Amino acid sequence: MLSTVVTAAYIVAALLFILSLAGLSKHESAKHGNWFGMAGMVIALVATIALVIDGVYSGPGDAADAGKWGLGLLVVVMAIGGAIGVRIANRVEMTGMPELIAMMHSFVGLAAVLVGYNSFLSAHGDSADAVAEHARLEQMDMVGIHQGEVFIGVFIGALTFTGSIVAYLKLSAKMKSAPLVLPARHWMNLAAILVSVGLGVWFVASPSLLPLGIMTVIALAFGWHLVASIGGGDMPVVISMLNSYSGWAAAAAGFMLANDLLIVTGALVGSSGAFLSYIMCQAMNRSFISVIAGGFGSDAPTSGGDEEQGEHRETNVAAVADMLANAGSVVIAPGYGMAVAQAQYPVADLTERLRAKGVDVRFAIHPVAGRLPGHMNVLLAEAKVPYDIVLEMDEINEDFPETDVVLVIGANDTVNPAASEDPSSPIAGMPVLEVWNASEVVVFKRSMATGYAGVQNPLFFRENTQMLFGDAKDRVGEILKEI
Ligand code: TAP
Repeated sequence: MLSTVVTAAYIVAALLFILSLAGLSKHESAKHGNWFGMAGMVIALVATIALVIDGVYSGPGDAADAGKWGLGLLVVVMAIGGAIGVRIANRVEMTGMPELIAMMHSFVGLAAVLVGYNSFLSAHGDSADAVAEHARLEQMDMVGIHQGEVFIGVFIGALTFTGSIVAYLKLSAKMKSAPLVLPARHWMNLAAILVSVGLGVWFVASPSLLPLGIMTVIALAFGWHLVASIGGGDMPVVISMLNSYSGWAAAAAGFMLANDLLIVTGALVGSSGAFLSYIMCQAMNRSFISVIAGGFGSDAPTSGGDEEQGEHRETNVAAVADMLANAGSVVIAPGYGMAVAQAQYPVADLTERLRAKGVDVRFAIHPVAGRLPGHMNVLLAEAKVPYDIVLEMDEINEDFPETDVVLVIGANDTVNPAASEDPSSPIAGMPVLEVWNASEVVVFKRSMATGYAGVQNPLFFRENTQMLFGDAKDRVGEILKEI
């Protein structure tokens, strides 16, 4: 009876997860999407815990006692994990979300490795339980399949674990974002894959900890190298790719634990992450295969240092306020710096003020502006900027020649003309917001420092560009007082 209820609960949870993904695909429905996801997760947790409790109380004498200890441990671990999760989620800044997500992906990878080893040991040991489990698998003719699941699960989990740690280190600037270019790096990657396949055959033919252990070490090094050899400009794709890997790692764990919901949920995360990576590659004009193969087929950039390329012009708050007061059309191109400064609120006030004066104000959103897909959209929605004036890059790029003033607020790589004009630049080929085609461009930033990709921006030295130095929130606040 209980297993039927649990199966029904799992189906409802899986449907809620699908509705959640559908909701998250548009900002208007994103909040509902989150609620669906949370409801699905609560149902999934309650159903799984009910299954555990039932197993404990219906077990034979000793097993039931041991099970009660296990259940107690589960409650304690969930309480500690939940408390840490709530604390971190409350404290993390929006700008720190990508690092947090990368760290969480690494936990999923590590969990898949541990589940894999546990699953292997519980069917291949001398204990009575292991012998019984092995006999059960043999009876169903599943021994080889089980070993395959364990091997693949551990492989994906290990590479997700170290790859995500490198992504965390790069995003939090604890490690250089420039690509690590080892000699023969692609051959090393290929060798890692081929040796792992060989170890997989060995493991399935004669299961032991030796091939599993060697493969785990190789997969850990492979994951590290794969992400370390990808440059800063391609990090958005790497993050969604690791998201996808963590989904497949969870699905593999689902197979090992024979948990249908984990398989479905892992597959949803895995496939939506892969699709997102593909969309981002298209948006950034990158080859999907090249990025997932650690930059395979791409040459190391030959230009793109951070040296200045001419004279820049500096402006001040009064001059910008004056320029805005006389403008008919204004486009705001926000970037990571707006998030750092938390300038979205004064920017929203400025937008409202200018629109009230009859100025046509719109926002231009680059697909990788900020540090997370949709980062800018979330910030602007938070500050209650109307959705209909927030446009994607493709929708607005052609309008820049008819725009009077562009305010670039804490954006850099996403408005860099070198992407389309310098084929040797590390960001060459990436479509960018062509803000330089407007009559006047004002760049809000604190210094002449480079953006995430570490390359200087020729926009800052153009004749129609003026720099307004300082914290974006302070500067926009001062302009508000002047208008
Ligand atoms: P960036 O190129 O990183 O430039 C942000 C600029 O903001 C910096 O040049 C910085 O200059 C300025 N800034 C920082 N704090 C500021 C403050 N308090 N006030 C004013 N300005 C401030 O940002 P972007 O144009 O949004 O491009 C995003 C980059 O991140 C791309 O290279 C992208 O590939 C990468 N990336 C994106 C993602 C996703 S999915 N969106 C994920 C990982 C990486 P100063 O220091 O001089 O102030």
